[in-house]
Amino acid sequence: MYSFALITVSAVFLLLGGRGADGSAGFIKSPLSEVRLTGESVELHCEAIGHPIPEIQWWFEADYNDSFSQLWDGAREDRVQMNTTYVLHATSTLYLFNLSPEDLGTYECRASNDPDRNHLTKIPRIKWIRSQANVVVIDHPLIVTSHSNATGGDLLTCNLTDFALVISGHQWLKGAKVIHEDKDSSQITTHNITGVNAETSGQYTCKFLTSPEVYAVINITVAPHVVAYKKTEHGNEGDTGVLTCKSNSFPHVEEWMWSMVSADGNKPIVNGSEDRYYIKSTGNKTELRIHQLEIEKDQGEYICNGSNEHGNEGAIISLHVRSRLAALWPFLGIVAEVLILVTVIFIYEKRRKPDDVPEGNTTFVTLL
Ligand SMILES: *[C@@H]1O[C@H](CO)[C@@H](O)[C@H](O)[C@H]1NC(C)=O
Ligand SMILES: *[C@@H]1O[C@H](CO)[C@@H](O)[C@H](O)[C@H]1NC(C)=O
Ligand SMILES: *[C@@H]1O[C@H](CO)[C@@H](O)[C@H](O)[C@H]1NC(C)=O
Ligand SMILES: *[C@@H]1O[C@H](CO)[C@@H](O)[C@H](O)[C@H]1NC(C)=O
Ligand SMILES: *[C@@H]1O[C@H](CO)[C@@H](O)[C@H](O)[C@H]1NC(C)=O
Ligand SMILES: *[C@@H]1O[C@H](CO)[C@@H](O)[C@H](O)[C@H]1NC(C)=O
Ligand SMILES: *[C@@H]1O[C@H](CO)[C@@H](O)[C@H](O)[C@H]1NC(C)=O
Ligand SMILES: *[C@@H]1O[C@H](CO)[C@@H](O)[C@H](O)[C@H]1NC(C)=O
Ligand SMILES: *[C@@H]1O[C@H](CO)[C@@H](O)[C@H](O)[C@H]1NC(C)=O
Repeated sequence: MYSFALITVSAVFLLLGGRGADGSAGFIKSPLSEVRLTGESVELHCEAIGHPIPEIQWWFEADYNDSFSQLWDGAREDRVQMNTTYVLHATSTLYLFNLSPEDLGTYECRASNDPDRNHLTKIPRIKWIRSQANVVVIDHPLIVTSHSNATGGDLLTCNLTDFALVISGHQWLKGAKVIHEDKDSSQITTHNITGVNAETSGQYTCKFLTSPEVYAVINITVAPHVVAYKKTEHGNEGDTGVLTCKSNSFPHVEEWMWSMVSADGNKPIVNGSEDRYYIKSTGNKTELRIHQLEIEKDQGEYICNGSNEHGNEGAIISLHVRSRLAALWPFLGIVAEVLILVTVIFIYEKRRKPDDVPEGNTTFVTLL
């Protein structure tokens, strides 16, 4: 198919190349008819060669109107756009955005390089050549979706109620990922999930491989599934402590709340309070930063609580605050060790006779 098109194109080139001096305009690419859904976009493409390079124009004939009218860049409240280039040959792409039923009709690509082509009175010697394509705009057909409890799993069903479309297969997507594909031509397609939970929650799209493709979305929704990034966090006195919780279920968390567990109930933490507590949240993550950590005040358990329309869930994180000194202990330990070693060496050296020194040195090096 493709190679055939290529051969045709090169044949046209040869033909025109052979014609030499004549150089009248000829199409090497013609616009193709398209079916689109209301609200979608379409591109029509046209290419012409000739000497000099021909001019390309686009014309439109509505189904309800027998006369062609010329289209320009920005027509129909900017829903029509054109991109035309004249380098070596003429190429033009017509874009129709946000299609509506009024866009339905015949689109014509016209090309000509006759010097008199746009003359108001003179009739051009060589007429405009034309190439047509139809654009059909249809409404998105109704797809009836359902979600039912079946034994051993939940069944998602899509039923395409339009019998005019030719179905060459189906796809199921979770989010943007294709999770199932088939080449069935049935009006109904199903997908089986293992119950409704945080893992199966998400946006499922059933897509009918028709021309154009039609689809429906089924939302599997749950309350947030909140987990602590780390169940235990450590911080040093005076430093900043960072506690993080996540939720990867669907839909996203609408509101995150942090609180600290204390003997007299949970104390909510207000963002920006005391100039120490800072909360940063997105739909799937929340982060609590505590500046200038103090042992007595900040050590303890914290709860992050995420909620959406389906409910809420919390996760607990323990924060351990080490004293500055504690942070130093390992370092002090090493220093002490080195000091003791140096002292031992020093004393040892002192007690040795001078002629023993070289041999002794090597021993100490290996020791260190
Ligand atoms: C048909 O198109 C012409 C040219 O754009 C316009 O003047 C005329 O009003 C249209 N007729 C109808 C019935 O839309
Ligand atoms: C117009 O065509 C040129 C060259 O093909 C391309 O670089 C540019 O992005 C096109 N503009 C639009 C709006 O598509
Ligand atoms: C499926 O069945 C379970 C109990 O067996 C019930 O809790 C759940 O709400 C049902 N889900 C739907 C979508 O009917
Ligand atoms: C759904 O899948 C489960 C196991 O994955 C299976 O036991 C069950 O029969 C399936 N249900 C339907 C309706 O296909
Ligand atoms: C699918 O939709 C058609 C048309 O509305 C209806 O006749 C048919 O019963 C539906 N099938 C199922 C399995 O729901
Ligand atoms: C599915 O969820 C998305 C995002 O929350 C929402 O925009 C859409 O309206 C929902 N669709 C249905 C059918 O509930
Ligand atoms: C907390 O306050 C900071 C500014 O002080 C702001 O950038 C941030 O978005 C706030 N967080 C929340 C969850 O409102
Ligand atoms: C969390 O949400 C942001 C945007 O809200 C997104 O870029 C990111 O990929 C999400 N992360 C996960 C793990 O879903
Ligand atoms: C989360 O906060 C809500 C109030 O908004 C509360 O009812 C619920 O018990 C909290 N959940 C946890 C696990 O703390």
